[in-house]
Amino acid sequence: MKEELVIFDTTLRDGEQSPGASMTKEEKIRIAKQLEKLRVNVIEAGFPAASVGDFESVKAVATAVKDSTVCGLARAVENDIVRAGEAIQPANSGRIHTFIATSPIHMEKKLKMTPDEVVERAVWAVKRARDFTDNVEFSPEDAGRSDIDFLCRVIEAVIDAGATTINIPDTVGYNIPEQFGDLFHQLLTRIPNSDKAIFSAHCHNDLGLAVANSLAAVKAGARQVECTINGLGERAGNTALEEVVMAVRTRQDMFAVDTRIETTEILAASRLVAGITGFAVQPNKAIVGANAFSHESGIHQDGVLKHRETYEIMRAEDVGWTTNKMVLGKHSGRSAFRSRLQELGIEFETEQELNEAFISFKDLADRKHEIYDEDLQALVTDNNTRR
Ligand code: KIV
Ligand code: ZN
Repeated sequence: MKEELVIFDTTLRDGEQSPGASMTKEEKIRIAKQLEKLRVNVIEAGFPAASVGDFESVKAVATAVKDSTVCGLARAVENDIVRAGEAIQPANSGRIHTFIATSPIHMEKKLKMTPDEVVERAVWAVKRARDFTDNVEFSPEDAGRSDIDFLCRVIEAVIDAGATTINIPDTVGYNIPEQFGDLFHQLLTRIPNSDKAIFSAHCHNDLGLAVANSLAAVKAGARQVECTINGLGERAGNTALEEVVMAVRTRQDMFAVDTRIETTEILAASRLVAGITGFAVQPNKAIVGANAFSHESGIHQDGVLKHRETYEIMRAEDVGWTTNKMVLGKHSGRSAFRSRLQELGIEFETEQELNEAFISFKDLADRKHEIYDEDLQALVTDNNTRR
């Protein structure tokens, strides 16, 4: 029996921190409802102290969503925690996520606090959050550049104070997978009360390693991953939900965990977020890009027609596509060409006719980027007229 990997979606909070991606309350509710359909465990709906609009959005999401936990972010300060506590009040299940930075550069230059003061404030924040809910997450911000001994000290103290989830952020996307996995291994083995909390990975994608780092953390014992739809987020974004979920699902041989995600809702979620934010998905984006399940090369098309698993490790239908797609272009071969014509109800009486049509198709494909069904119909009609 696999352990559950908790999927914590922060599209509405960290995702919204992408410059230009801000969303209205109504848009946030639509996305939250889709995330609920996707069966994410936790929806981080926003940062209630940031503005009245954010407070209202978190409250509205907490009211609208029934089957996912709704979370509000709060710095380790009184007003943030109170606002987050009030915003999640309508939720069936609510969480407060409080954080304070623990890296030397953040403590010295940003917070202007000593390490002792940071530990004291972190403990205070967790206890204050517990006044509103018994579901409290704590993040040592910039953990990826923090001193391991200090991290152990802070985390042990906040677990004693009542934190139930410990989230380890690689805030600036600085870590590499071996290092990040090792960090989890060390924290889980060195912190005496680590079994009293779920450990979580929160990775940024500055070096393009967010998904790889998150998976390394899972292999080392993390049981929650924080992620966003389409990898939306600050700078180069966060861990992409669709990639981490499908990696774990597809490589069950490699992971001791699985998620409860309804993967057939992934594409709808991706399109909704892209449509609302205006952040288009690149065509070659894993899982949700237009080309993710398309085959153009003749060798690949021929292989897939003979047996899908020759060139496909996932089923397009499992992530919400209606089917895989054979794109006819100049690299396509005779078998894909014949198969598409058959689907269109076009049969040839002789091999000679098929060959002639295939030559015309190659000629057209040299001039035209992608060949559509209408092009094929026209091409066959032309050939028949000439004959
Ligand atoms: O990247 C980060 O450190 C964060 C924290 C607020 C968890 O988003
Ligand atoms: Zn973040």
